[in-house]
Amino acid sequence: MEYLSSDSVRLSEDEKSVVIIDQTKLPNETEYLTLSEADELYDAIKLLKVRGAPAIGIFAGYSMYVLSLGIDTDDRSVFLNKLKEYAAFLDGSRPTAVNLSAATKRIVKAAEEEKNLSVKEMREKIKRTAVAIHEEDIEMCRKISEYGLTLVKDGFNILTHCNAGPLATSRYGTGLGTLMLGKEKGYTFHAFCDETRPLLQGARLTAYELLKAGIDVTLICDNMAGFLMKQGKIDAVFVGCDRVASNGDTANKIGTSSLSVLAHYYDVPFYVFCPSSTIDFSAKSGEDITIEYREPDEIRSMFYKEPVAPDVKCLNPAFDVTDGKLITAIVTEKGICRYPYEKSLAELFLS
Ligand code: MRU
Repeated sequence: MEYLSSDSVRLSEDEKSVVIIDQTKLPNETEYLTLSEADELYDAIKLLKVRGAPAIGIFAGYSMYVLSLGIDTDDRSVFLNKLKEYAAFLDGSRPTAVNLSAATKRIVKAAEEEKNLSVKEMREKIKRTAVAIHEEDIEMCRKISEYGLTLVKDGFNILTHCNAGPLATSRYGTGLGTLMLGKEKGYTFHAFCDETRPLLQGARLTAYELLKAGIDVTLICDNMAGFLMKQGKIDAVFVGCDRVASNGDTANKIGTSSLSVLAHYYDVPFYVFCPSSTIDFSAKSGEDITIEYREPDEIRSMFYKEPVAPDVKCLNPAFDVTDGKLITAIVTEKGICRYPYEKSLAELFLS
């Protein structure tokens, strides 16, 4: 599959910019953007040109490197202060996916932890760290997908929400990785893909990726999932995540939590696919996760020729939190965790 060997986020050939596929233009146009200014890097995240928690983390790592090239000083502390300013600036673009602030924090730490490095050496280390964030994600997605395959049978009907495929990560994806790897290994899966209102990541991106990968996919509206589950047409729900608290409470695209309630009611296994870069052990529960609220007009008028509603108030939370106890398993690159997650996540990652 051709796009499994390329990346939706990378450094440009001259290594002075970050190159992304503009995800807001898909599926109708494949447009690459080459970005290097702080404001355009910030906007790319804010406006969802790059999106999906792991992809945002990879993008933030490369952005920090590109921005470090423009810090015109040989003075270590001046350099570090400006680097921290850039980190805080990028962190402010979107609050929910932990991969963003985890990546900027990791870059700052890499630059400042060895006290005797020159500015030039710090820049080199920043680049190595950004590349490591990217390469680790490729590896994590592959392993998560292998674990995912142990949870399914050939012919499964899998419902997915939002987009947790190659565009949101690197290569296989998390939530879609099992389907991608399964396809390579000769499994036949069928996917039901929620359109994912209001920004339609499912309709625009997941449907596109699955079609491109040759996986049988049917697009449904978000409010059709219960209808299908009641008829026994869904064997499992697969979703990605933006931040997982230590008790397993999981922030993901708005609508995920209601899907988990439906899945629980209809006895359908509900799986969260989670690279360790998305676990936030400093958050004890979902109450510690900040939910992003976006522009009301994304509901009323975005993607429509004319507004679909009168000039009414709209509320637009971009994420919700699924209770850990409604999650059948959290699939990570190190193994599969089950409830209670305080124990199973800590055993796998903190011991
Ligand atoms: O607002 P988005 O499109 O960035 O939201 C993305 C999601 O909710 C994804 O499901 C999540 O980031 C997992 S990506 C592997």
